[in-house]
Amino acid sequence: MNSASHPRVADVQQQALLAAARHAHTRAYAPYSQFPVGAAVLDEQGRVHAGCNVENAAYPQGACAEAAALAAMVLAGGRHVRAVCVVGTGGRWITPCGGCRQRLREFCAPDTPIFTANATDSGPTYTLAELLPHSFGPDHLEATP
Ligand code: THU
Repeated sequence: MNSASHPRVADVQQQALLAAARHAHTRAYAPYSQFPVGAAVLDEQGRVHAGCNVENAAYPQGACAEAAALAAMVLAGGRHVRAVCVVGTGGRWITPCGGCRQRLREFCAPDTPIFTANATDSGPTYTLAELLPHSFGPDHLEATP
């Protein structure tokens, strides 16, 4: 099954995003949780940047897939996220963790779509504002006198 079409993202870009997140999922380093995650972001130039979770024997030093995808985007010069895809493991759809919702908030608009998927199917789509309502972001700092 493929993702449902989204009005803000061309089908071909959505498919590229999904494929990149699925590929990243296969590359995850998750020996402790056994919970591989892949993520991909579509930037303002139409480029896709992917990342996977990278765990560590010192458990808190592990990093999420979304953080890696955002770092790849920033390194490539991207500054705006037009869409996100997260591919998890197991029988339930996963959405970005709380910390990653805030990381995404830095580069997303409130209506930026966040697609969920697993290795074979697509799950529900959310907006950033649905996952992180009433959020704090760069605009608040700009509003200081
Ligand atoms: N994980 C992510 O990479 N992204 C999320 O949004 C949720 C959790 C990772 C962190 C850890 O390596 C594993 O999934 C289990 O929590």
